[in-house]
Amino acid sequence: MSDVMEQVLAEARAAIENAADLDGLNHVRIQFLGKKGSVQALMAQMKNLSREEKPAFGQKVNELKGEVSRRIEEKQKELAELGQKARMASEKIDITLPGDCMELGTIHPLIMIQQQLEDLFLGMGYKVAEGPEVEQDYYNFELANIPKDHPARDMQDTFYIDPNTLLRTHTTAMQMRELEKAEGQLPIKLICPGKVYRRDDDDATHSHQFMQCEGLVVGEHITLADLKGTLEYMASAMFGSGRKVRFRPSYFPFTEPSVEVDVSCPFCNGKGCSVCKGSGWIEILGAGMVHPHVLEMNGFDSEKCSGFAFGVGLERVAMLKYGIDDIRNFYTNDLRFLKTFNRFD
Ligand code: PHE
Repeated sequence: MSDVMEQVLAEARAAIENAADLDGLNHVRIQFLGKKGSVQALMAQMKNLSREEKPAFGQKVNELKGEVSRRIEEKQKELAELGQKARMASEKIDITLPGDCMELGTIHPLIMIQQQLEDLFLGMGYKVAEGPEVEQDYYNFELANIPKDHPARDMQDTFYIDPNTLLRTHTTAMQMRELEKAEGQLPIKLICPGKVYRRDDDDATHSHQFMQCEGLVVGEHITLADLKGTLEYMASAMFGSGRKVRFRPSYFPFTEPSVEVDVSCPFCNGKGCSVCKGSGWIEILGAGMVHPHVLEMNGFDSEKCSGFAFGVGLERVAMLKYGIDDIRNFYTNDLRFLKTFNRFD
């Protein structure tokens, strides 16, 4: 190799050696092997040589080019490996560090009550029915013996979507769907829990959205006594053993007779306290025997079968059970309130 070539090679070696990273090395490659690079410049000198000198010179420049390329390749491998090691070191996970604390949610108190009721009634052979919250007037009112212009419609201030579509005002709408679906087949034994809506002004005891769980049993020889026994069992399961229930006459268009149901106060055991306002009884739900007209409209022979129905408000149960004094707590999503209901209770 000529002195000039030796010099180019020495410069290239040093530059390759000093390249700190792949980018730097790429610059070196361009500087020596690129179109305007030093090696190419040597090639360009060929035209000044005699014909005899050309082959030997060309061979040497090619050797130089080969040598520089080889060294660049080696350096490239070396830098790539280094880069990978550095990346691995920086991305290393320290498994001895304490992990981030993941907050566990809790089950909403109303859902807890719903689940307790579902367990209770599934255990007695009931099934759990479901239905839409956006409901037809037909199921919410007509089939429940509340035709248009019936004064009972005023009892339930309704959110209408159009004249025939509404947000269901009671879970009775699901009962009607189930009765219709049964096509006269007995027996029927179900509960239907779910959200309902009424145009109430929200305050400590009213909410425009709330939850109900309704029960329905239709069969042969079903009596008011069956309803009473079932409700006593439910009240004892929800509020502690030994609860008694009492019936007071009431009115619902879809039941006859209709009753308002009180449970003996779980706080004073019926003696009288501030919760039951000294009476020893707390009102918890509405119920009754399914109105014969409702049975007939849904395709049942009211001479051959009878049924009872009840509807309980889940907020009311939860408020009594957990001593909550404002219904709005269930809907304002304040985590401090919700977290007090441990999921393992
Ligand atoms: N649907 C009634 C209400 O929302 C409750 C009820 C259900 C009463 C079943 C009797 C029988 O107030």
